[in-house]
Amino acid sequence: MSSNIDLVIFGARGDLSERKLFPALYQLDRAGLLGDSARIAGLAREEISSKEFIAKVQQGLQKVVPAGDWDDAVWRRFSRRLSYLKVNFAQKNDFLMLKEWLVEKRTAIYYLATPPSLYGSISKHLDAAGCVDKQARIVLEKPIGKDLKSSREVNATVGEHFDERNIYRIDHYLGKETVQNLLALRFANRMINSQWDNTCVDHVQITAAETVGIEGRWSYYDNVGQLRDMIQNHLLKLLCMVAMEPPNSLQADEIRAEKVKILRALSPINSENVLEQSVRGQYSAGWIAGEPVVGYMEEEGSQQNSSDTETFVALKAYIDNWRWAGVPFYLRTGKRMQDKVTEVVITYKENPHAIFPDKEGDAQNRLVIRLQPNEGIELEMFSKKQSLKERLSLEKRTLNLDFFDSSGESRIADAYERLFLEVIKGDQWLFVSRDEIEASWRWCDRLLDAWADKKVATKAYSAGTWGPSKADMLMERDRRSWHEA
Ligand code: BG6
Repeated sequence: MSSNIDLVIFGARGDLSERKLFPALYQLDRAGLLGDSARIAGLAREEISSKEFIAKVQQGLQKVVPAGDWDDAVWRRFSRRLSYLKVNFAQKNDFLMLKEWLVEKRTAIYYLATPPSLYGSISKHLDAAGCVDKQARIVLEKPIGKDLKSSREVNATVGEHFDERNIYRIDHYLGKETVQNLLALRFANRMINSQWDNTCVDHVQITAAETVGIEGRWSYYDNVGQLRDMIQNHLLKLLCMVAMEPPNSLQADEIRAEKVKILRALSPINSENVLEQSVRGQYSAGWIAGEPVVGYMEEEGSQQNSSDTETFVALKAYIDNWRWAGVPFYLRTGKRMQDKVTEVVITYKENPHAIFPDKEGDAQNRLVIRLQPNEGIELEMFSKKQSLKERLSLEKRTLNLDFFDSSGESRIADAYERLFLEVIKGDQWLFVSRDEIEASWRWCDRLLDAWADKKVATKAYSAGTWGPSKADMLMERDRRSWHEA
């Protein structure tokens, strides 16, 4: 891997940089994966010196990096890589300072941890200042646009200055260990893959539930809502990884092409089916882990008397292709829910004929793919109850593949560590292509239009629950229920 990397972080004093980016880079350095000569420039508008900046990075790291992972020698090496440039991102001339900092023949990586509204102008100013050569890469955080039209505009403007192969669109879910493990599970295990279609699978559930609220982001979140914040990107990524056909190889283009095919095959949720296939919710005051929490409208930053922005979404989606025709994919995501859990659950069909009359509970196998907490995969199976008293009765047992226990590592890497590494290597396999992002917006736009057309209002749910009762009804109508983690 080339270590001739000049990494430039725009928005280096922001929350994402402090919580995720610098800790990930520190961990990479600790693991010896940053190379000898990699340099890092933090860019922001704040009037501080490099020395002050480095002290602030250290303070931030010490809040986030577990004490056991702190190593003074690593920090000394890491801090020597850091510089600070005070840049106003709207000022073309400020970019000349960056040009001076860069060294020819090294690979520049521009990481935009800024409001997306600046992506276009930053790309333009970088180019005008002579900072964009053939190998310069740009990394864009979500959201890219808030609908198909605006995402196209962002993609087009950035595309005027950077070649598509050098644009890395982040969806941090793709950096999660379990998401990559989905590829291994499906395509390294013939046994699993041969049971992966509408002949065997009854339905799929994808849940991303959080206990946090909107974390002081009211003004951003209220314009966005949970569909754009979580479904358009993270949940649809998971859906693609579950549903895609085997790629021809692990090359980025091959994987990305298969994901786009799934997004294009998603059956629209439109005005005709929106009432049966979707639920919107908004949390009211409640309790999380024994503590009282306020409702969405009382959150810090709320300046309105009313808002119908959804903090919860449940959907029933179908994929119109040969493999998945007729198999419902239930997606559910919400803020302030009972537990933090992100998982994919594949429920298999029952046997065509039951010969075990006394089976307890339901008669379906289930494969649970857990992203968090406790990354791993569980397969619920039936086996004979060990008892002489009974002739041949069954009980449900679980085969457990716990990633952490079996890895022999002391920790599971954060998604951003993996993603930084892939950008440095120049491998796009965990990043989102332009086609992918536009296909998912196209589908979400139809749903948003249908919500507007049918005036689908949010249903209240108490914080600390699993969402509005209508979400349970979405399942119960199909004689199914949500998997309880
Ligand atoms: C972000 C969303 O992309 O993902 C947040 O903007 C959300 O609202 C977060 O809280 C969830 O990420 P994770 O990794 O904690 O599931």
